[in-house]
Parts: sequence; structure tokens; C-alpha cells
Amino acid sequence: MRQVTDAFNFYQGNNPRELAAEYGSPLYVYNERIFRQRCKEMIKLSTYPKFGVNYAIKANTNLTLLKIAREEGCTADISSAGEAMAAMAAGFKPSELLFVVNNVSAEELEYAVKLGITVSVDSLSQLDTLGQVNTGGRIALRFNPGIGGGHHEKVITGGDGTKFGIMPEYIPEVKNLLAKYNLKLIGINHHIGSQNWGDLYLEGVGALLDLARQFDDLEFIDLGGGFAIPYQKQSGEKPLDLQAIGSTLDKLLFDFSKSYGKELTFLIEPGRYLTAECGVLLGTVHSTKTCGEARYAGTDLGFSVLKRPTLYDSHHDIEIYRDEKSDTPLDDANKQIINIVGNQCESGDYIAKERQLPPLQKGDVLGVLDAGAYGYAMACQYNHRSRPAEILIQQDNTTKLIRRRDTHEDIIANMQGL
Ligand code: LLP
Repeated sequence: MRQVTDAFNFYQGNNPRELAAEYGSPLYVYNERIFRQRCKEMIKLSTYPKFGVNYAIKANTNLTLLKIAREEGCTADISSAGEAMAAMAAGFKPSELLFVVNNVSAEELEYAVKLGITVSVDSLSQLDTLGQVNTGGRIALRFNPGIGGGHHEKVITGGDGTKFGIMPEYIPEVKNLLAKYNLKLIGINHHIGSQNWGDLYLEGVGALLDLARQFDDLEFIDLGGGFAIPYQKQSGEKPLDLQAIGSTLDKLLFDFSKSYGKELTFLIEPGRYLTAECGVLLGTVHSTKTCGEARYAGTDLGFSVLKRPTLYDSHHDIEIYRDEKSDTPLDDANKQIINIVGNQCESGDYIAKERQLPPLQKGDVLGVLDAGAYGYAMACQYNHRSRPAEILIQQDNTTKLIRRRDTHEDIIANMQGL
């Protein structure tokens, strides 16, 4: 029998129930030590001398995490002018940013070009716009060399039938536009999708490197993100074998640079790998019920707080933290099938479907694991629910508020015309 356990040593001696009581529920909790560790792992993925990590900040743009990523030696991949502003507010210089755009306005391109941020466009039509905005400038291009994959069809960004990247057959038109606007192509990139295991990632790298040979004098090749993390650690799922990926990657990069005749820079663009496992979302059970055969635990974890299960049927492992004073201890011997649902007015509002868990009761605090990537970043204020606060467990084990919860005033602040 147990009440509060911390199977993955996430809280470093802090009690998650006390954190939820002190900072309010729901609450995003990040672990600085784990985040720094993941940054280090990616930075040393390859021994190629000019290898770098562009953190895809869309996964989590909390300024404190951005600052830490920079301290660890990451540069940043951004996808909007707003993300550029956030990255710069956290200390990144424009020269440390790669703006990988998709369907943006001329004004947004102009904003980045004026700051000296390298922009990568991914269609002939956006290349034409960038040519007008940045005539004679240095630019990058995102290609789609035909490899795609991911944990859900909604996150596959390479291969047939995606809106991303320029297909290789358009390279002659690309070259015409580069000449027309006197543009210097300094880099190419791609991104096959999200939550991919090693083999497909490396297949994608091979395809991009083949395509790269069609351009002379590149300065960098960005191999994209998408590295998988084990979302089912409670069932023994293992992390990526970074050593195996690293040694194949090394061979591809060293061989390429030798045959290309130039030691160019290689970048990778992980988002999830850096931040997912450093975040847990805490929430509270407010009701329990059965409806026919189905059991429900009703919580404050609506999809406005974490969209991934509703949007992609994503799995997040759940931990249960029960009040030490409760006279019903957590009963691992009598697990039941339970649906953990939120407080929003839609039937798709769930956090965990049909899980085998000990019977839950009102007042239990739940930990939704691996919620640091695309968690807060995709949170919203639907039903006028506040987006949660975010806190950091620092390396000395103390906690710090790094974003306060929305207030009612925040939610209605932009409304006018009464
Ligand atoms: N580079 C580009 C151009 C991207 O579009 C993305 C993610 C990344 C890098 C980073 O991918 P990662 O390493 O994080 O897989 N909301 C979804 C994931 C969407 C990913 C969008 N692009 C989810 O929660 O699974």
C-alpha cells in the first residue's frame, strides 16, 4: 500500500500534493535537472565538430526554459515572429535563430529579415515573397525529400500529402527564383514529423543529404526534429538508443562532408525530446461516477490544459498521489478500468481512457507524466478556464514560480465594445 510515490524521482524530495496546494491545481511542474540533461544528450548526439542543436521552441516557450536551453548551448528553431520575440526576450540573439516558416505574410518575413534572422521558406510561392522582401539576401529552404512519419497522422510533415516542404521535382524552379532575386542559399532543412524512432529519422537524414548534393556551397543542413520519447515508461518502454543513432549519424555526416568538399554545419531540431520528460501536469480529482459499465474520475484536467489526448489520442502515464491522512490507502491489488476526464463541456474531454488504476477518490492529486512538450504551449482558455501556473524544480530542489495562472481579468482583457 502506498500514498505518494515518485517512481521516476521527478520531484526531488518535493511532495506533489504540497506543490498543488501551494501553487494551485492544475499546475505544470518542470524539473530543471532533467531538462538540462536532455539538452546535453542531444548536444553530444554526434561527434561531428560543427554539430548543433536548434531547440524547436514551439514545444515549450516558457522563457525560463528558453534561457536554460541557451545556457546549455542550444540555438533555436522558431515558427513565428512571436516565437522570435520570446526567444530574444530569453537572451537568444537573432543570429542564433532559424525561422522555419509555413504560409506567413510578407510583413512577418520582413520583420525577421530586418533583424537579421535566417528564414527558411517551404514553397515556391513563399520563396517568391521572400525574394521580394530580401533581394540579394541569404536564405534557407525547407524540402520534402519524401520521408514522413509520426505518432499520429496529424503530426506527419514529410512524404506525400503534406503542406510542408518543397518537393525535389521543383528544384529547377527553385534555382530560377534564387537567380531572379539574387538570393544566396546558405542552408536547407526538413522535418519528417514528430515522435519518430531512430531508423526512420536516419532514413530521412539520408534522403535530405542526397538532395543537398544538388546545391553547391551550402553553409548548413538542418536535419529536423521529431525524436521520440517513451510515453509508456510505467510499462517498461525504453528510451531512444542515442548511442546507436549517434554512431550512424556520425558516419552519414562525416562521409557527406568529405564528399561535399566542405565542413558545413549540421543541425538537429528537437522539441519534444528536450522538454516532454521534464514536465508533469498535476491535477485534482473532484468527482467519481459510473455510467453503465464505464467508470469516470472527473478532474480539473480539461483539454484546455492538455490537448494531446483529445487531439491525437495520446497516451500519458498517470501517477496518483493520495492524502497521507486518507483512511483508504491506494489499493494496487484491486485495479479497475477507469476513464480520467476533465471539466469541459465536450465528450472528447479526457486525459486517460480505460486505464487500469487503483480506485480513485475525491481529493486525489494526479500526475500526468511527460507533459512538458506541447502541453502548456497548446493550452487555451476555453470555457473561460485559466491556463495553469508553471513552476520549476531547480537544481537545488527548491521550487520557483515561472508563470502565474491566468486571472479572470487576463481572460477578458482584450474584449471591448460593451
Ligand atoms: N522542426 C519543425 C519544423 C517542426 O515543425 C517541429 C514540430 C519540430 C522541429 C520539433 O518536433 P519534435 O522534436 O518536437 O517532435 N503538437 C504535437 C507535435 C507537433 C509538432 C510540430 N512540429 C504533439 O503534441 O505531439
